[in-house]
Amino acid sequence: MKELQERFPDYTLSPIGTTSHVNVLRLSKDGHPALVAKTIWHDASDPEGDMGIKAQDNAYMNEVEILTMLPSWWGIHLVDHFKTPQNRVIVTNEVQNVPWNSYKKGSNDAQIAELLFKQISWLHSHRIAHDDLELKNILLTDSATPIIIDFEKSNLKATKEQLQNDYNVLLRNMKEHANTESIGIILQDLLKGKSLEKNSGKYIQMSSHKYDITLQGVNKWACEEIKQVGKIVAVKDKGLQRAYARSTLNGMAYLRDAIYQLITDSKNPDYIKDELQILHDKVVRIMKHLIKDFDIDMKDIQEFNKNKVLSPLNYLNESSSSSSKERTRKNRKNRKSNRKNTRKH
Ligand SMILES: Nc1ncnc2c1ncn2[C@@H]1O[C@H](COP(=O)(O)OP(=O)(O)OP(=O)(O)O)[C@@H](O)[C@H]1O
Ligand SMILES: [Mg+2]
Repeated sequence: MKELQERFPDYTLSPIGTTSHVNVLRLSKDGHPALVAKTIWHDASDPEGDMGIKAQDNAYMNEVEILTMLPSWWGIHLVDHFKTPQNRVIVTNEVQNVPWNSYKKGSNDAQIAELLFKQISWLHSHRIAHDDLELKNILLTDSATPIIIDFEKSNLKATKEQLQNDYNVLLRNMKEHANTESIGIILQDLLKGKSLEKNSGKYIQMSSHKYDITLQGVNKWACEEIKQVGKIVAVKDKGLQRAYARSTLNGMAYLRDAIYQLITDSKNPDYIKDELQILHDKVVRIMKHLIKDFDIDMKDIQEFNKNKVLSPLNYLNESSSSSSKERTRKNRKNRKSNRKNTRKH
């Protein structure tokens, strides 16, 4: 495709892997990670129809908006997106995937189920119903990491029933496929909360509006995001590097909101809040560095946050979190004097 080649002049375009997808292309360049471009075509003769411009534009916007929101641990990032007269094009990093029918049944069922549960929980905690959870929309890496893709049909303001339907569809599809049947059973257990009781704090749990996450969960999430920051500098291509930085920054904005919610939750004891405040400040500091070092325009982050899931990003303009430090000092002082008072009595 002419426009795609113009935007990625040094990349070689070829059909993707062994799939019969005519609309998905692979972009490769020596010494660089490969990319994947998906084109969404529209039927100009029937603008109102299923394949008409309105429907296809919606699909494109959905996919771009969700890809922009995804945290970096997902494993797929938006690299570029643009419109041509006939097509809408979405470019992401390539995932080296193995087809589900070559997955060795039982070998990594628990890991796959847990990661799928984590991804679906993340979508649902943002009120996103995927709405097309077929196996072909779940890539599987050779290290048995499932990656949910294809958000064209997703619903960004889903009802509880629509969210529940994701599991119904996925579990039905897994049951019909011998290789994934047992993954479905574990997933069902996770859903019932059996494993959650045993491993509380391990998952980002489901909630329709808010982050329902524990201190342990938020720490793990932060570790993953911070690890991702370290990887950005290793990307040689400057444009790609910026795209990764933008995607990581976006993931960190969600992390920051989740931490902030825990800090303001009156149920959490002070000592946990102190620890969270330190983590919060560290995350904000890294976000500011990313903006500066990779010259990120904040409008890019806000552009696809139309459903207002993210809180306003004003905190990035504040010079430092002195108020929070005060709070921490005060709390320590209070606790100290409280202890003294107790001793006096
Ligand atoms: N980032 C990627 N890395 C590797 N393969 C990919 C990637 N994105 C898409 N693919 C491959 O292309 C196929 C089609 O992608 P996707 O589902 O996003 O497009 P689609 O047009 O909606 O296809 P379908 O109608 O079959 O769902 C995937 O099933 C997968 O095999
Ligand atoms: Mg698909």
